[in-house]
Amino acid sequence: MTNQDGFETLAIHAGQEPDPVTGAVVPPIYQVSTYKQDGVGGLRGGYEYSRSANPTRTALEQCLAALESGPRALAFASGMAAEDCLLRTVCSPGDHVLVPDDAYGGTYRLFARVFSGWGLAHDVVPVSHVAAVREQLAARKITVVWAETPTNPLLGIADIRALAEAAHEAGALLVVDNTFASPYLQQPLALGADVVVHSTTKYLGGHSDVVGGALVVAAPGLAERLAFTQNATGGVAGPFDSWLTLRGVKTLAARMDRHCRNAMRVAQMLAEHPAVSEVLYPGLPSHPGHKTAQEQMRAFGGMVSFRLLAGEEAAVRACGRTRLFTLGESLGGVESLIEHPARMTHASVTGSPLEVPGDLIRLSVGIEDCDDLLDDLRQALSDS
Ligand SMILES: Cc1ncc(COP(=O)(O)O)c(C=O)c1O
Repeated sequence: MTNQDGFETLAIHAGQEPDPVTGAVVPPIYQVSTYKQDGVGGLRGGYEYSRSANPTRTALEQCLAALESGPRALAFASGMAAEDCLLRTVCSPGDHVLVPDDAYGGTYRLFARVFSGWGLAHDVVPVSHVAAVREQLAARKITVVWAETPTNPLLGIADIRALAEAAHEAGALLVVDNTFASPYLQQPLALGADVVVHSTTKYLGGHSDVVGGALVVAAPGLAERLAFTQNATGGVAGPFDSWLTLRGVKTLAARMDRHCRNAMRVAQMLAEHPAVSEVLYPGLPSHPGHKTAQEQMRAFGGMVSFRLLAGEEAAVRACGRTRLFTLGESLGGVESLIEHPARMTHASVTGSPLEVPGDLIRLSVGIEDCDDLLDDLRQALSDS
């Protein structure tokens, strides 16, 4: 691979040279825990034990690093395992971090219920308002600014370049959870972020058949420290999960193009629908982050959230009435999903500053025939 190769080429080839012994065109599943040494310490290719490194995981890590234009990626058992490893590595008890006012509920729970007990303090900030972030950075020493963009589930947009500048001036790291956009739509490291977080469970895997996570890091020194923590604590991606994720990654670009096209049509239809009070989709010119999204994203993604005029019970009813949109948590697979964030993915933030409105519905728009998806939503909303 060369640096000039395009995204689609890297997705199919980076880290995936044909096997030197057999010529297998896809990296095999190295379902193995340990490796024969040629004399004590005589490792073949650096492999000694699969928690430390495994060739299938290496292939995935090299591919993810290429797609995010970072020197190194690390693959984990889940997105949460990746976040945990990152925070243990870059923070210490007594530190202070800034967390977004809209984010995946599990991420907020990690700060509020796990790391708070470890002595890591957090303040909630609206990361789409850089001035508010700067104000917090000026008020005290901050170790990490954590951002999602687009955010889960309100689809807010943060200006990555401006946040990176603000964080770096204050001596903080900028971490961007790039799960909703995927590296095909947005590359935070190129915009100045220090670390990219992924739940590879979502668009990277793409088929709702594997849970995984990843970190991609700009500075090789930090990557070394993260690799140390990953090996020391052990939340690694297994060989079969790595293989499944890598298989998904090969079609990421083609899938994302279709997700984005379908999502835009869904958002436009909902914006005209009489039962809908508000559509949250960064691709709509009315979205407050539209211009920033246009500047930092290739397209606007496959996630659409919307609110119903008739309130929470109507939203819950509509979630149970779809035929093609499957009622379920998660996102980013080829099939469309619908969910009620307040009672499902974001139930853990009830009563916190991240609480989401009860009349909100979140869609992960899949790659089915879009006319079928539009019909399905119209019938589900017909008496809302
Ligand atoms: C934006 C975002 N980040 C992180 C995670 C956590 O990832 P995982 O479920 O793979 O642990 C999720 C899960 O939904 C997510 O939506």
